[in-house]
Amino acid sequence: MEDYEKITVAPVTPCVGAVIGDVDLSTALDDQTIAEIHDVLMARHVVFFRDQAISPQQHADFARRFGPLRKAQRAAFEVLDDVSEMQVLINDRERPPNVNHYHSDGIFRTNPEFGSILYGVDVPVAGGDTIFVSLAAAYDGLSNGMKDYLEGLSAVNDFMKLHGSPAKARSWKGDNFARMDAMRQDNPPVEHPLVRVHPVTGRKHLYLSESFTTHIIGVDAEESQRVLDFLFRHVAKPEYQCRFMWRRHSMAFWDNRASLHYAVADYWPETRRMNRVTIVTDDIGASSVTTLSRQA
Ligand code: SIN
Repeated sequence: MEDYEKITVAPVTPCVGAVIGDVDLSTALDDQTIAEIHDVLMARHVVFFRDQAISPQQHADFARRFGPLRKAQRAAFEVLDDVSEMQVLINDRERPPNVNHYHSDGIFRTNPEFGSILYGVDVPVAGGDTIFVSLAAAYDGLSNGMKDYLEGLSAVNDFMKLHGSPAKARSWKGDNFARMDAMRQDNPPVEHPLVRVHPVTGRKHLYLSESFTTHIIGVDAEESQRVLDFLFRHVAKPEYQCRFMWRRHSMAFWDNRASLHYAVADYWPETRRMNRVTIVTDDIGASSVTTLSRQA
């Protein structure tokens, strides 16, 4: 990895993830520290911090240094009363974990959010890890023939592929039905290219999610299904992953454009409570493309 002046950086696997040290997220960080964190995020797709005893407001303030936050809507997740951008992902005996699927936050939107920052408030003694996938490494791992085939193809991504499935049935219960239905209406199926060039690093990556991607446009339905099945298995290979073992007060910050994540559902009936904000646009990346092409 590059040397950084303000932070320490320890890669997790060769292609994805890095633990950032020497940072106290409860303090107002200077611009260089923020730029270095962003730089590592671009190269590694997800960065982790340990032992950060911060409030939800400090969590949101840190995230806001990278771009505007999405106002949280109570639907699939709860929302914190006093920080309107903060989603609360809570699982316990009554609410078994159900985010154990590979996805990129917001891929079902016309304009998916750039980043997500997740914080461990209450984590199980063991289990409840999150797996992260480098969609750039997964792209690099394809044959040239498959890369040529996918070039220029787009796929449909549908909020209801996941949220209309039995795994999410409890989201539609009682007065939450109306909120979920509003989410459905706000997010009709959208098209995104299957291969994209990362706007900051210039690196090519896949862009699909087993949870939301329904079919490839312009190819026969059976061919679409078989190609997607191949790609869903391909991106789930351990070679393109890292796995983060949560501790209380750990944080993960990922770039949704070039990564997938999967919350391992192995801890029920224990409680796992996480806070999450999402960042709509990558304002640092948009303004400083030249410094951000470092690769691990
Ligand atoms: C998410 O899918 O954004 C949450 C991941 C997790 O809870 O580990």
